[in-house]
Amino acid sequence: MKNLKLISNSPIETTKIAQALAKFLNIGDTVVLTGELGAGKTKFTEGFLTYYNLQDEISSPTFTIVNEYKSPLSTIYHFDVYRLADLDEFYAIGGDEYFDKGICLIEWGEQIEDALPLELIKISFEKNSEDDNSRILNFEAIGNKYEKILDSLSFELKN
Ligand SMILES: Nc1ncnc2c1ncn2[C@@H]1O[C@H](COP(=O)(O)OP(=O)(O)OP(=O)(O)O)[C@@H](O)[C@H]1O
Ligand SMILES: [Mg+2]
Repeated sequence: MKNLKLISNSPIETTKIAQALAKFLNIGDTVVLTGELGAGKTKFTEGFLTYYNLQDEISSPTFTIVNEYKSPLSTIYHFDVYRLADLDEFYAIGGDEYFDKGICLIEWGEQIEDALPLELIKISFEKNSEDDNSRILNFEAIGNKYEKILDSLSFELKN
């Protein structure tokens, strides 16, 4: 499956979707989170971390480009590249060296597209002007491995 569209009607539903995805990801996997301010990218990351019991540790990476979360299962790197001036700045902080070391979730990752791994999952978050608690999450798998992961995710959420 290349695309999966999910509706979330609350932050809790977004958490559940993120936990379900976490189940299928491993060290070396990359997830790009895109969507306007307040769309739910950080909320999703927080949910993702609850799978590893790391939810109490989340800090907003507003002033740091990347935060590291360690669990016995995996290390999770949470990026917010919104404030990066350009790709050079990303390389200067050694940004691309994180991709192999853990699971990377990258808010505003489309801004550093040329530095990203060739294969990844992209999730775009859309707000709903009629309902503050509703979001559309559009998953896109780039690469065979991630297409299989979307199949698994879809199956998991339907059962
Ligand atoms: N269904 C939902 N899924 C996710 N968040 C939701 C949902 N409904 C309401 N919200 C609220 O929307 C807000 C999302 O904020 P969040 O910080 O995750 O956005 P963001 O996409 O990371 O923004 P930014 O680009 O500024 O980092 C939170 O306050 C959250 O409680
Ligand atoms: Mg955010």
